[in-house]
Amino acid sequence: MSAPRPAAVIVLAAGEGTRMKSDIPKVLHTIGGRSLVGHAVAAARGTEPSHLAVVVRHQRERVAAHIAEIAPDATIADQDEVKGTGRAAECALEMLPGDLSGTVLVTYGDVPLLATQTLTELTTAHEQGGNAVTVLTAVVPNPTGYGRILRDAAGSVAGIIEHKDALKAREEGTEHKDAVEIREINSGIYAFDAAVLRESLAKVTTDNAQGEKYLTDVLGLAREAGGRVEAHTIDDLMQTEGVNDKVQLAAMGRELNKRIVEQAMRDGAIVIDPATTFVDVEVTIGRDTVVHPNTQLRGATTIGVNCEIGPDTTLVDTEVGDGASVVRTQAQLAKVGDEATVGPFSFLRPGTELGAKGKIGGFVETKNAQIGDGAKVPHLTYCGDAVIGEGANIGAGTIFANYDGVNKHVTHVGAHSFVGSDSVLIAPVTIAPGAYVAAGSAVDGDVNSGQIAVARGRQRNIDGWVERRRSGTKTHEAAQNNARAATNADPSTTVAPESADEGTSK
Ligand code: UD1
Ligand code: CA
Repeated sequence: MSAPRPAAVIVLAAGEGTRMKSDIPKVLHTIGGRSLVGHAVAAARGTEPSHLAVVVRHQRERVAAHIAEIAPDATIADQDEVKGTGRAAECALEMLPGDLSGTVLVTYGDVPLLATQTLTELTTAHEQGGNAVTVLTAVVPNPTGYGRILRDAAGSVAGIIEHKDALKAREEGTEHKDAVEIREINSGIYAFDAAVLRESLAKVTTDNAQGEKYLTDVLGLAREAGGRVEAHTIDDLMQTEGVNDKVQLAAMGRELNKRIVEQAMRDGAIVIDPATTFVDVEVTIGRDTVVHPNTQLRGATTIGVNCEIGPDTTLVDTEVGDGASVVRTQAQLAKVGDEATVGPFSFLRPGTELGAKGKIGGFVETKNAQIGDGAKVPHLTYCGDAVIGEGANIGAGTIFANYDGVNKHVTHVGAHSFVGSDSVLIAPVTIAPGAYVAAGSAVDGDVNSGQIAVARGRQRNIDGWVERRRSGTKTHEAAQNNARAATNADPSTTVAPESADEGTSK
């Protein structure tokens, strides 16, 4: 049997979230690389509802703009000045077709771990039971703050009493004076028959301890009207937990991460230390890829199979091919080819594309750089705005001087060319395929295939300089000793003066 599709899901996100002590709207805080309301919307969408509505009010513009971005098909419903979850649901219904029929789910924008599967199970239980309302409940150790589930003698749900109203009942010794003791709580997530919801909400008043229109009152009203009201109880308590402050935000973030990392391992990744591995919801990790400790995989990062990632690595929106190794690296919006190696201590900035079997080594920073298959940038280099052909080798300490103080320019290094160590390539400049640049060059003119560019001061060795200018120093003494030994012709301890002559630029 295929999963039932609800007529609508209404996500409530109008509340203020005062306890977050934040200028950011509560539902826009993120865990696992997605906003709280983004998680709620993703769970809702998974049920493939005919309509999806999100109710907003507090910081309306920011929240609505975010919803429009993540779920352009969603209906944004504005809650008016009447307070309460009941009024919120009513405002959403007003935005949906007047003849809406079937099952309407209500969820919260600040309950990020709720899974699509749970919503589907709730819908199935609701529809199979022929219920007017089905409430998702949980039995918790500490029910403080939650609405308590009231059951009748037959075990059906008789209603919900809010915490504050239960306290009042205890004080006044009225009908539900023992309700505060009940540990079965209302998660705030429900399946309603659309018509029952519409008709009941029209009757809900604000006559309660908080002066709000309670959605929970719909249960009692539905029952009075002869409808069946049942509970669907969930064991996985975290799925019903909301975020009210930043301590809970961190706790839910930690729990979500645990779930994501466990799923990644079930899907075939090898995670050495799940406690120090942080993975966002959209990340994919290939089979038998090893993720070492202190690694963060963020955003839309994808990692192929059989890779080694980490330790101490942060990859943001980065694509890594199969069999690659990325060690102690920070990367953002970068692509790393199959069997390429990166790190340790590499910084890959946006637009870095390393080809298959290429290498970016230690203390190398790259930006907007296409580095061809098998090309190597192994040591101590800044490589910005570069197009490097396959098999090229960039020597240690090369700087791609891409910025003239006003504009950025591109440097091309052709296939299998070789740039000697400690060179500066002053862009715009092109080194053709199959060319050399001598070590220590400052290159600002193009180099053709088959040429070597030598762009540095020629070496001069000045005889007698140490004696004239540094007489009496240890250096002078060493020079004298070496000259004496050379005269005695002991080749094992001396360096013949001729061998150091004229440098290497001949
Ligand atoms: C509500 C339930 C309570 C349940 C608890 C679970 C009611 C009356 N009570 O409690 O039984 O145990 O959730 O967490 O429904 N919201 C709006 N508009 C409003 C008020 C709230 O959109 O006017 C949204 C909030 O943004 C939030 C959700 O509804 O996402 C719940 O609001 P909150 O104030 O936390 O609910 P409680 O009244 O504490
Ligand atoms: Ca709450």
